[in-house]
Amino acid sequence: MNQHPSKTTTHPRSRPSTITRRTLIAGGVGLGGCVALGGAFTIPAALGPGTQTNVGALDFTNPLTIPPLADSRIDGSGRRVFELTLQAGETEFPGKGMAATWGVNGPFLGPTLRAAQGEAVAMAVHNELPDATSIHWHGMHLPAAMDGGPHQMIAPGATWEPHWTVEQPAATLWYHPHPHGETALHVYRGIAGLFLLDDDASAALNLPSEYGVDDIPLIIQDKRMKDDGSFDTNAASFPDSLRGGGVFGILGRTILVNGTYDPYLAVRRSRVRFRILNGSNARFYNLGFTDDRSFSLIATDNGLVPEPVPLTRLLVGPGERAEIIVEFAPDEEVTLRSYPQDLHVPRPIRRQLGADDTFDIIRVRAGSLGAAAPLPFRLAGDAGAEIPADATVRTFSLDDHTSINGRTMDMARIDLAIPAGALEVWTVQSDGQPHTFHIHGATFRVLDVGGQAPGATLRGPKDTVPITPDRPVRLAVQFGSHVDPQMPYMYHCHLLRHEDNGMMGQFVIVEPGTEDSTPMTLAMPEALGHDHGH
Ligand code: C2O
Ligand code: CU
Ligand code: CU
Repeated sequence: MNQHPSKTTTHPRSRPSTITRRTLIAGGVGLGGCVALGGAFTIPAALGPGTQTNVGALDFTNPLTIPPLADSRIDGSGRRVFELTLQAGETEFPGKGMAATWGVNGPFLGPTLRAAQGEAVAMAVHNELPDATSIHWHGMHLPAAMDGGPHQMIAPGATWEPHWTVEQPAATLWYHPHPHGETALHVYRGIAGLFLLDDDASAALNLPSEYGVDDIPLIIQDKRMKDDGSFDTNAASFPDSLRGGGVFGILGRTILVNGTYDPYLAVRRSRVRFRILNGSNARFYNLGFTDDRSFSLIATDNGLVPEPVPLTRLLVGPGERAEIIVEFAPDEEVTLRSYPQDLHVPRPIRRQLGADDTFDIIRVRAGSLGAAAPLPFRLAGDAGAEIPADATVRTFSLDDHTSINGRTMDMARIDLAIPAGALEVWTVQSDGQPHTFHIHGATFRVLDVGGQAPGATLRGPKDTVPITPDRPVRLAVQFGSHVDPQMPYMYHCHLLRHEDNGMMGQFVIVEPGTEDSTPMTLAMPEALGHDHGH
């Protein structure tokens, strides 16, 4: 299937470089020479890499692409089988141009997978790319050998067939490559998709759930596009070509939603659920509507929040997901926008991370609207387990964009052995830069941030959380119980350049009582042991 059928009507429109009044004001004063930023875009040099915006530069011409639901079949043993083919291709981005891209079952991005709690799923992942890669099921609880991290590489031409039983509640998960040292490039080229989990409890809630109608995925990604629309992948691979010297990796000023540039969505229901994935390499988004309307947060990374949380702004860092419900009135239009965000860092770092940027994400156009059921008061019964008094407490310091607790990722080193089913308290801190911290195969709750109760958007089940400098985040982490002392799961920063740089560690799940006797080195197959260093 091809989720981006070639479109014959392009929308040729070249806009002058957008130096807005806002950019200049936010950038301060002082007009020196000029510095080139990603091709034709120039800004006064004295401003350094200034703030960016696309506000006023979009016409919202292209209907939002909805990633198709993946076909599946039930095999002889009752498993739901998905066939995924990783492929290289070309994608036309109307209004921008053509780009060489990668995708899953199509040239860019991938289909939405869907399975229910209790179901056995089996994947056949065919790698038709020129490079080895892996496919990781981000947020999924499953045996480490099925996780698709850097130890489950798929050679070009090979097929990987993991299988597991979905044991966790309804959630919006996602999948993406995870080859050590190359994740940023592979995700950036376009390999990513959603993996929706359903369960009976959420089905009984009467939430908007007609996929593509009132249950709309929004995969938000920023790209650096050259003038012909092609992706600047050099920027993804080589730090020197990035603004800010590549500390955070790629940041682009072209926003794609589900792979659609300049998108609009026509809604036909008065209440719409958006499943938001920040699938960007490094950019955070602080989302809100241009009329500052309130919307309801109903789920975070790993499932429903206890009750809907009214918000006007929602911060989503790289790798995070959120589900929101938004009410629309007939015949109105409103824009979802990303606003400047407070990442608790000084101006130079804010600039490098685009934290002062403003980007329109998508225009929503309401027509005549069908009525919707009321939003339930209560969503999920479970606010998380009690933390045992003797819970193991660990501290993780994310330092200098390459390491955790002073150690850089080593494929052959196990950093932690964790007893099956443990509930541990992890404190994660950063001394200078913002990050997002992700743990594989686990669900956590945020206990506090800088000693304060977490903000409203961090009170649901999570697997990825923003970490800002000097505000240690305490997590209650519920680990799984698939024991395998020789196959690790990862924990890492989800700013993909940081992950590739080695801000990542490995843990194994072991029989309780064997933590201290677990070998902390792995015998590495030749193919995985080599160093991808940059
Ligand atoms: Cu979404 Cu280890 O990654
Ligand atoms: Cu993950
Ligand atoms: Cu980081």
